[in-house]
Amino acid sequence: MIDLTTMLGPLALRSPLVAASGTVGSVVDFVEVGALEAYGAAVAKSVSAEPWEGLAAPRLAPVGAGMLNGIGIQNPGIEGWVRRYGPHLREVPVPVWGSAVGRSVAEYRRVARGLAEAGVEAVEVNLSCPNLEEGAMFALDPEASAAAVAAIAEEVDVPVGAKLSPNAADIVAVAAAVVEAGADWLVLTNTVWGAGIDVEGERPLLSGGVGGYSGPPLKPIALRCVLEVHAALPEVPIIGCGGVCSGRDAAEYLMAGATAVGLGTVHFAEPRAGRRILRELEALCRRKAVTGVRDLVGTVQPW
Ligand SMILES: Cc1cc2nc3c(=O)[nH]c(=O)nc-3n(C[C@H](O)[C@H](O)[C@H](O)COP(=O)(O)O)c2cc1C
Repeated sequence: MIDLTTMLGPLALRSPLVAASGTVGSVVDFVEVGALEAYGAAVAKSVSAEPWEGLAAPRLAPVGAGMLNGIGIQNPGIEGWVRRYGPHLREVPVPVWGSAVGRSVAEYRRVARGLAEAGVEAVEVNLSCPNLEEGAMFALDPEASAAAVAAIAEEVDVPVGAKLSPNAADIVAVAAAVVEAGADWLVLTNTVWGAGIDVEGERPLLSGGVGGYSGPPLKPIALRCVLEVHAALPEVPIIGCGGVCSGRDAAEYLMAGATAVGLGTVHFAEPRAGRRILRELEALCRRKAVTGVRDLVGTVQPW
């Protein structure tokens, strides 16, 4: 038997796979279509303080081996979310984490409080949101990111993770700032900015022009972030996330220093992908003659 359990800071996970925010709905909606028993946790779609309508169609476009999305974080706002999903969180066969997004530190705080009161087991801080006070995305700026994380860590009693962006010029600086501010782990990473053009229609593929690019082409970029952050901050727990489609992809993130691995875009083509990927990871551990996934963590050797 391969030991699939892992630790993510204060959290013990039964599996190293984490269903990534925005790709499994509220998690509650995913129970019937997904294979939630394969995950250590599943993260609900990000929620803001007030309801957000999201952007107009088109909001999703396959591009090359990946996917562009410009959803605009459509969500019912924290009060609507708590009413709709709060009563069902305990019925879900996997720990559910909430994801907070905001356009100010006060909004992040309010959302996190609502999520925690609804009973989520952890709060992920989605820092890929424009800061109305400063203009730029929180995740680009170590100080703004730290302010959002510090407010949430102060507000809630559950563990807090910070989800960073590969668009940050210096992701190690952002990582160090949010850890100092109280993040218990990092998610590396969210989508990378991208765009596509409809040559016949003479318009961008997304109504918003630029959106988030995810799937297999993101993997080398997110892996680079994991390697850099793990080298600079070796004690900090990391969820590696970007383009994971196989057990081998998951192993790459673990070997780079992550202790857990996020699955996102793969769910759109294969909602039960977690089950297959976990089996593949187990088989890979057997081939490598290790007794558990934890034995893979940080095992990559320098040339
Ligand atoms: C359609 C879509 C919606 C997403 N929505 C969110 C979101 O609400 N909050 C968030 O933190 N990340 C969101 N993400 C980012 C994913 O959680 C993940 O970090 C990213 O897609 C990279 O992983 P992947 O290549 O496995 O998809 C979304 C991704 C996609 C494709």
